[in-house]
Amino acid sequence: MQIVRLYAILLIFVGFGISACGGESSENAESTKVESEEATETELSLEAQIGPITQLELAAYDAVLAAKGEAAFTAKCTACHAVDTKVIGPALAGVLDRRSPVYVMNMIMNPTGMLESHPEAQALLAEYAIPMVALGIEESEARAIVEFLRGEG
Ligand code: HEC
Repeated sequence: MQIVRLYAILLIFVGFGISACGGESSENAESTKVESEEATETELSLEAQIGPITQLELAAYDAVLAAKGEAAFTAKCTACHAVDTKVIGPALAGVLDRRSPVYVMNMIMNPTGMLESHPEAQALLAEYAIPMVALGIEESEARAIVEFLRGEG
């Protein structure tokens, strides 16, 4: 079932790639527009517009939550990710130094939406050639994983 889903997502991206090559101007115009809107401080960031998470302020580091996140990460993410080395996806050490908490939450909960609309995620897809799959992770679990990754910075 996972494999079938992965292939379906791959096909969508191949199709998207082909159409992007043909009619690039409208796609580009759209993403430039969203980026310039992002510059206004009152607007939501692009990752917040993609959702489902729109806001997340990280408070003091919570070691208990991070331990829960480590267990979830080990069970669900290590097929493709490690903290310090590239596997099928990028190394995730320090990811919260280069990405916002909302970006990381939405990449975990809604990778398909992020890969459709976020230029940074799309650049990674171009580099890694395999789309990150939606694993049906709930908000509380994604939040615990963020806490774990925070401690691995
Ligand atoms: C099927 C393999 C796969 C699985 C499973 C997977 N990922 Fe990914 N992930 C990727 C790939 C590949 C990328 C790079 C972007 C792309 O190609 O989609 C990525 C990108 C990311 C990013 C963005 C990194 C950045 O620098 O912007 C984060 C964060 C992330 N994954 C977290 C996770 C977490 C947490 C889990 C477990 C809940 C997970 N991933 C499960 C393959 C996977």
